[in-house]
This record gives sequence, C-alpha cells and structure tokens, in this order.
Amino acid sequence: MKNSFLLICAFTLFMGSAQAQVYSLPNLPFAFSAYEPFIDAQTMEIHHDKHHAAYVNNLNKAITGTSMENSSMTNLLMYASFRPAAVRNNAGGHYNHTLFWEILAPTNAQKPISDALQTAITNQFKSLDSLKTLMNAAAATRFGSGWAWLMLSPDGKLAVVSTANQDNPIMDVSKDRGIPILGIDVWEHAYYLKYQNKRADYLGAIWNLINWGVVSDKYAAALNDPLLMELEKDNWLALKDFHKVMAQTFHPAEENNFEPLRTRSGELYAKAILLKNSTPPASANNPKVQDALSRLEQQCFSIHQLAQKPSKNEADKNAKLFEQITKAHDIFHEVEGLCHD
Ligand SMILES: [Fe+2]
Repeated sequence: MKNSFLLICAFTLFMGSAQAQVYSLPNLPFAFSAYEPFIDAQTMEIHHDKHHAAYVNNLNKAITGTSMENSSMTNLLMYASFRPAAVRNNAGGHYNHTLFWEILAPTNAQKPISDALQTAITNQFKSLDSLKTLMNAAAATRFGSGWAWLMLSPDGKLAVVSTANQDNPIMDVSKDRGIPILGIDVWEHAYYLKYQNKRADYLGAIWNLINWGVVSDKYAAALNDPLLMELEKDNWLALKDFHKVMAQTFHPAEENNFEPLRTRSGELYAKAILLKNSTPPASANNPKVQDALSRLEQQCFSIHQLAQKPSKNEADKNAKLFEQITKAHDIFHEVEGLCHD
C-alpha cells in the first residue's frame, strides 16, 4: 500500500515535470551539412543542438511553476518588458531561431518568391538587391549580438530593423514593432567557426540560403495576422498609460480597496485627457473611437469630482465610486474593441 502510494506520488511528480516542458526544440529541416559551403556543418550542429536547445531548456525552466506556463509565445514576447530577463532572452531565443531555421534552405530546396512579396519589396525598397543592402547594413552595424529583420509593420508596409541580443520586433522593448518575416542571426555563434570576425563575409553568404518561398508565406500570413492590430494598439502609448492607472485603481476597487482610486482619481482623469488628445493609430482613428474617448474623459472627470467630495457615508461613496469606475472600465474596453474594427 505504502509502495503504491509512493509510486503514485512519483508518477504525479513525473507528469508535473513532463507538463512543464511547454516548449520543445524543433528539428532542423535539413542535414547539418546541407547548408555548406555557406554555413559549415559544425556551426549548424552547435547552433541548433546546443545554443537553440539551451534557449528552449532555459525558457521551460524560467516559466515552470508560474502563470507564464499558460501564456502563448506571442504573449510572452509582446509583454517582454514585464517579464524576468530569463524569459525575455530565452523566449526571444527560441522564437528567433525557430524562424531562422524555417527560412534557410539549401539552394536546390528553395521555393521562389511570391508575386505579392516581390511587388511589396519593389514598391518599398526599389529592388531585392536594395533590400539585401539595407538588411546587411542593419546587421553589420548591430553592435555586439543581435538580429537584423525584415518585418511587416502595423501600417501594412515592410521595414528593415535590427534588435539587440534575442529581442525581436514583436516585443514591447523594441522601438520598431511588427511581425518578422525574415531574420538574420548576427550572434558570433552563427558564423564564427567559418568566418571568425568577418561578419560581412557571413552576411554576403547567407543570402544564398534564404528560402524566399517561405518568406513569402510568412508575409502572406502576417498580412492576415490579428497580431498586427495588437501591435499597433500596443504602440498607442497614451492608451497604455491610461490602462496602467485604470488597472491600478479599478482592480483594487473590485477587491473593496478604494484607497488607490480615491488618491489617484486626478491622475486617472489627467491620463484620460492625454488619451483624448493623443493621435490614435490609423486603424482606430475614427469618429466612434473619438466619441468613446470623449465619454471616457467625462466619466473620469465625474469620478475625480466624486472622489474629492466630502462624504458622511463612506460606504455609500465607495458604492458610487465603484459604479462610476465600472462605467469607465466598460468605456475603456469599448475603445479597445473599436481598435479592431
Ligand atoms: Fe543564434
């Protein structure tokens, strides 16, 4: 009996640790040597089996036993500034390398670029060669370790950017936001064995391995990805600022703690004014949003007036404050919803 109890405990522990392995290392689609002569087999093996594997293992370790176990990869990346460094670095490392392996292929296994991507590149950069020059400049000037990206911006245009370390444009720590469709790893571990310190030579060679067909598929998927709107909205800083104060006052009020709302009602009102006077992203710049922002400002003014008003019945005042902040919270979510229209 005692033995079977121990067995059940051991099994439960095993299952628990097995479930914690949220992320796993994807297989490299080709043999290590298939990328020769542009990237040598040993570099590919160490890069994939050691470096990428370490990002996956460390990411799983960092999120085990936390609520982040249930977060999507997109969510981990989008709110990177709120995450521990281990999550930011390793979630980025896993996402970035997964994309990198997908877009690399030996010459004989590459698919051609789509008309849609070719047209977008021509319109944006004049030619594929100009794009390569821009990407190489972004990669060459990235000090230390990082990535150069071709991404789709929320305005629907392509852009070339670079990020440090294992950051990427989905992250809120990135100045330029968008969905990456092509990434070039410029960490020394990506090229040092063959090219040593000659990053430019590696950058000259890497283009032979870019599978433009896959990049084209990623472009088509990004154009229809709801994440694009999320990124646009997330870049509306006045909305983020308001949201922060709203969350820090409304949620305690839900727990019957009205102190934050009473002491910060002026700040909430000020943030609502700033939000009303800010320029919304293109997708949210319409009369419905402007109307909701006006109502939000008015609602926050009422809350501030009520919070400042002396009262003989504190419980009654709190009930009224809760009613008012709930209305403001509803309007705020109305604004957020309208951003998707
Ligand atoms: Fe790498």
